[in-house]
Amino acid sequence: MTTPPERPRDRNFYGRLRGKALKPSQKGYLEDLAALSPGKVGWDENPERRPLELAALFDGKPVWLEIGFGSGEHLVHQAEAHPEVGLIGVEPYINGVATLLGKLRRSDAENVRVHAGDARDLMDVLPPASISKAFLLYPDPWPKARHHRRRFVTPEHLDPLHRALLPGAEFRVATDIPDYVRQTLEELPKAGFAWEAARASDWRRPWPDWLSTRYEQKARREGRTPHYLTFRKT
Ligand SMILES: C[S@@+](CC[C@H](N)C(=O)[O-])C[C@H]1O[C@@H](n2cnc3c(N)ncnc32)[C@H](O)[C@@H]1O
Repeated sequence: MTTPPERPRDRNFYGRLRGKALKPSQKGYLEDLAALSPGKVGWDENPERRPLELAALFDGKPVWLEIGFGSGEHLVHQAEAHPEVGLIGVEPYINGVATLLGKLRRSDAENVRVHAGDARDLMDVLPPASISKAFLLYPDPWPKARHHRRRFVTPEHLDPLHRALLPGAEFRVATDIPDYVRQTLEELPKAGFAWEAARASDWRRPWPDWLSTRYEQKARREGRTPHYLTFRKT
């Protein structure tokens, strides 16, 4: 018998879980959450951290992952553009999750599953080498130096992501914060990701299938420059 993993004690979540009170319509959208769950992700329901059965969930299609999807505009866009893949979105901010679920009701996409929680809990239960593309779009910047260790681009997040990705899988990171670019370019190679840029200016060009997110539009309005970084699991 194998010993079940120990629940991490130091997995603090520092972001926002709730915003304004949900409208009745948003509460209604949240009723869809259970049906769209990717499986047992929470520690209480899956203390042994059994891997999710992704092949059954998505009929053997390739699986993509969007971390921190915000209001979900990019997730829905990718799902509609790529019915040949399954997408898992993870987002702990419940107002954002409700907005995504509203968008999904108005979309024909049937290939999205949603975990309303922390990406670390989801990554624990993703089978090794199961994800063929991952998106990290405008992760929380945590501008103060003493908070940089809360950023997603740290070993606590990158190691489980690396384990979950297939060899050669693409990992897209978008950010408008120059110091986040610095930390990303420093940490990702250490975690086993190679930057794909052929020219230094490649970071300026969005991906061909890009859809600008809400946060990106705010960043542009406030005069900040988007950086588009493409990595591959080596
Ligand atoms: C700056 S917002 C960007 C949202 C969206 N990607 C966009 O571009 O508009 C960062 C998002 O990451 C989410 N986030 C923060 N920590 C997370 C975690 N541990 N797991 C998953 N999502 C997380 C936040 O709740 C927030 O919605």
